[in-house]
Amino acid sequence: MSKITAAITAIGGYVPETKLTNLDLEKLVDTNDEWITSRTGIKERRILKEPGKATSDMAMEAVNELLRKRGISAEEIDLLIVATVTPDLVFPSCANIVSDKVGAKNAWSFDVAAACSGFLYALEVGSKFIETGKHKKVVVCGFDKMSAIIDYTDRNTCIIFGDGGGAVLLEPNFEGYGIIDSVLKSDGSGREFLHQKAGGSLKPPTHETIDAREHYVYQEGKTVFKFATTNMADVSTQIMERNHLLSDDVTYLLAHQANKRIIDYTAEKMKLPTEKVLMNIERYGNTTSGTIPLLFWDYEKQFKKGDNLVLATFGGGFTWGSMYIKWAYDSQ
Ligand code: UT7
Repeated sequence: MSKITAAITAIGGYVPETKLTNLDLEKLVDTNDEWITSRTGIKERRILKEPGKATSDMAMEAVNELLRKRGISAEEIDLLIVATVTPDLVFPSCANIVSDKVGAKNAWSFDVAAACSGFLYALEVGSKFIETGKHKKVVVCGFDKMSAIIDYTDRNTCIIFGDGGGAVLLEPNFEGYGIIDSVLKSDGSGREFLHQKAGGSLKPPTHETIDAREHYVYQEGKTVFKFATTNMADVSTQIMERNHLLSDDVTYLLAHQANKRIIDYTAEKMKLPTEKVLMNIERYGNTTSGTIPLLFWDYEKQFKKGDNLVLATFGGGFTWGSMYIKWAYDSQ
């Protein structure tokens, strides 16, 4: 029997309607549109404003969309994984809640927390259950409601992040299409540069931690920027080399949308022209686990069967990685 690969066969996505523009941020902190645009490439982000709505509500919309597009029922899902750092609750997992909301009664489910690399990690995990023949339908979501953990008085972080994400369906492929290779890395010594100080078992929430604003994202941007540029470019060129891909062979780069300058650096090292570098950072900002599935959602229509896609990411942890996918279908 020919080897099974895990191929993406349907995509869904969701972003909230409310926009937070650079001009809106000018009213909140000491910043300006020119600085944000030139230093990050971001013009606006989406914010989930409705009270009582959480990460699972966005993921539910995306999963329902992909089920509709593929023409299958939620009961056919074997496994559902959500990559997120902003689950609805500490426990149970966001994936448990999404499974309940979409009616995935036969699925088991769990979350993957790897910050901005979460979706890539989850895709890798999900693909293994397809490749071994254990499962036929695995849904992998990447979603974050970053507005829940962002301090809108801190100009170092509030200009970057937004809410949203996407979901993909993985199914077995017998013709060699799908996820071909990956390089995944982590280095926990980087945690001091990007983390949430309180709310976990190290510092459970108290009045003092709230007063000190320790439940928000803390980032030393410059240091993270340096590690992000070097490491994302490193794994992306590594995946090209070991799969004998020249820049002409790569159809598109789908890189984590944290900062346009980091993406440009990676593309330069891969020797890719601008038209091969997919971007939507100007409209959504950095949605953490959500950026790569949002790129899939936005650009699905232009993918053709056999396209060589390279995914690349870097995030808190530190975590980073790259993946090579041979696209499995022509989108209508
Ligand atoms: O998502 C995964 C991980 N995260 C990332 O990959 C993000 C990596 N880091 C970055 O994208 C960038 O470091 C930032 C966008 C966060 C910051 O850009 P930067 O070019 O590294 O700025 P900086 O922190 O070096 O600050 C440069 C200057 C400073 O002024 P002085 O000291 O030169 O006078 C800052 O005070 O810009 C100032 N500044 C701002 N000015 C206007 C910092 N933030 C702002 C702001 N508006 N929002």
